[in-house]
Amino acid sequence: MEGPRSPRETELPQVLKFLDQKLRNEASWSIAAEYPTAFAPNNLHNMRIIADEGGVLSHAVLKPLIVKSPHVIFKVGAIGSVVTDDEHRGQGLSTQILEDCLKTAQSQSCDIAILWTDLFDFYRRMGFELAGSEISFVIEENFDITPTNLRFSTDSKVSPDAIYRLYATHSVNSVRTIEETRKFLSIPQTKVYTAWEPNGQLAAYAIEGKGVDLGGYIHEWGGSVPKLMALLSFIRAHKNQPFTIICPRHSQNLIRELQRKPVTMNQGFLGMIKMVQFDQLAGKIKRAFRAEGIPDFVLEKHPEHFVFGIGQELFTINKESDMVRLLFGPVDYHALGIFKSETIQKVERVLPLNLWIWGWDSI
Ligand SMILES: CC(C)(COP(=O)(O)OP(=O)(O)OC[C@H]1O[C@@H](n2cnc3c(N)ncnc32)[C@H](O)[C@@H]1OP(=O)(O)O)[C@@H](O)C(=O)NCCC(=O)NCCS
Repeated sequence: MEGPRSPRETELPQVLKFLDQKLRNEASWSIAAEYPTAFAPNNLHNMRIIADEGGVLSHAVLKPLIVKSPHVIFKVGAIGSVVTDDEHRGQGLSTQILEDCLKTAQSQSCDIAILWTDLFDFYRRMGFELAGSEISFVIEENFDITPTNLRFSTDSKVSPDAIYRLYATHSVNSVRTIEETRKFLSIPQTKVYTAWEPNGQLAAYAIEGKGVDLGGYIHEWGGSVPKLMALLSFIRAHKNQPFTIICPRHSQNLIRELQRKPVTMNQGFLGMIKMVQFDQLAGKIKRAFRAEGIPDFVLEKHPEHFVFGIGQELFTINKESDMVRLLFGPVDYHALGIFKSETIQKVERVLPLNLWIWGWDSI
């Protein structure tokens, strides 16, 4: 048995065959079509396998993302397609592969690693914790909006440039190219809904579905709130059944508008997060506080604990999982009862951090 190591270029078809058999047995497409940037040849060095003479036994892939937000530019290592051959489970193979992915993420200066799973306890053993916020709305019924002169379309042949132009206006987004946007638009089971101005400019878009996942979920969208609301109203009428839109917590205007409509709101987590370069992340957060005129924010890692606070109001945090929640949320600093209300106002200038990963980036 050898590895964890990255596959050689010539082994890529064999690795994808293993993943398709284990994770996409029912699908008529390859997993590589669903995650075109993670399984691209230029990310081969971030794929990890353990193999023996018989073939691949275990796999995971790391896809580093640069995520811009108003306060911090994060480097995030997204981890996905974690799987071990049935006959070789329980021998620590996935644990070894994941440890190696975390080491790779660290060596590439990722602040955090993130993954999406329902095996919470499996990943908690490695220090991941459910953190960050995701708000979802089930659009239960048709709703009326002020009439607009927009034209709506379900044609998926939309220029990636137009989508990219609206994507780039988000306050929190990952660095992408138009070429990557083009690849994302061709993911199997993708539905594209668009709203167009009379002059032919794209006003709003909403993307539903992503391979075997996210059917019935709008996981990428863009455009101003009124135009997006008009598009959502069109989608509800067009589908004639409920669907869900996923939003970051900081999309306050959209959230406010949606709450006025016949919707069911659910609050969830962004994913499972683990800090991999704590000092680097702490440095970024301290700079964000300084830029807000708060020079005495404290965030330190000691061998057995973290120190967190502002000025003289300093607290010891023993668990890494608690620290992740304090930084990325969901967290109610009032309910914690540790800070004075003036201090909470200062803390909330930067925290919880506005981290968001759009659907096409999740792997
Ligand atoms: C989950 C999976 C990747 C684990 O692979 P593996 O190589 O058997 O993992 P390891 O041997 O490194 O770890 C097994 C350990 O995790 C524990 N574990 C496994 N599944 C678990 C779960 N669902 N919840 C909690 N612990 C779990 C085992 O009890 C074992 O613990 P131990 O080391 O204390 O005995 C494997 O079962 C698999 O491929 N599942 C199907 C695909 C899948 O669900 N992937 C996850 C997608 S996010």
